[in-house]
Amino acid sequence: MENNEKKRILSMYQCTGTFTLGNYLGAIRNHIHFQEEGYQCVYALADLHAITVRQEPAQLRRYTMEAYAFLLAAGLDLEKTIFFVQSHVPEHAQLAWLLNCYTQFGELSRMTQFKDKSQKHADNINAGLFTYPCLMAADILLYQTDYVPVGADQKQHVELARDIAERFNGAYSPTFTVPEPIIPRRGARVMSLQDPTRKMSKSDGNNNGCISVLDDPDTIMRKFKRAVTDSEGGVRYSDEKPGVKNLMEIYSALTGRTMEEIEREFDGKGYGDFKPAVAEAVISELQPIQERFQEIVKDKSYLQQCYRQNAEKASAIARRTVQKAMKKIGFLPIS
Ligand code: TRP
Repeated sequence: MENNEKKRILSMYQCTGTFTLGNYLGAIRNHIHFQEEGYQCVYALADLHAITVRQEPAQLRRYTMEAYAFLLAAGLDLEKTIFFVQSHVPEHAQLAWLLNCYTQFGELSRMTQFKDKSQKHADNINAGLFTYPCLMAADILLYQTDYVPVGADQKQHVELARDIAERFNGAYSPTFTVPEPIIPRRGARVMSLQDPTRKMSKSDGNNNGCISVLDDPDTIMRKFKRAVTDSEGGVRYSDEKPGVKNLMEIYSALTGRTMEEIEREFDGKGYGDFKPAVAEAVISELQPIQERFQEIVKDKSYLQQCYRQNAEKASAIARRTVQKAMKKIGFLPIS
């Protein structure tokens, strides 16, 4: 199939820290898989989004570079997929401004993520935090995206991007593809190993609850051995056993086994057998990626060449969309 007949998938990643096992199993691994399924994929690191919360400059630079290297190590193929850094493509900020003027204060006020984040960062409720969904809509609409794979927390933002696209298309004429959210088939939702009622998160106060994709094997084993379970002792899939359920989800995502198969595999065995088995599955998935990562991250000039070329590719698509939108709005063309 030619590229221009393929359906386009877009996603972006926050790069304010090292990716977690949750980011990897819940998103990254599935997104990379889309390359093999006949989609044209456009992926980026959302550094413009990152500054809605204050970032330490040297750290933001380092995390961005490392996140870029990690996705390549995890199998993102630049022959098939466009992968860039958001701030390298100025059209994102440009279209975001335009879309700000087609989005209502009331709509943005209803975004649950804004409500959550403004509570968490009460000392820095900046305008960017509020208009963030317009930037995200720009990210999506710039590339005439068909599908956006999202978790539950981002679905509302994709719905808003659809509303903005329909509104703009209706006010003028078809300009933006109206995107659809999709929930990836194999998308595991990974919870904290210490508090399995909460999503695994690097900002989790308890570091033992979170596996970083760069954790070494001993650390991974230790964290799994300490994972919170229950006193019943059996490997059984049940909402009443959130700790065990989470470990089973992780094990299933990595081995492809069903919950019934896992229950049978550990029938008559306890958590002392199950936890190290889960840890081993995680280690054998991450270890080869970590080895490739160490190679790639050393080669700054290679990385630079990759993100530069890909910013150009992205910009070529994005520029056309911005020009189209500007023309419809009525800006005086420069030429
Ligand atoms: N807001 C997303 C997050 O917090 C990241 C993101 C930015 C994104 N732009 C996007 C996701 C466009 C999908 C499409 O995870």
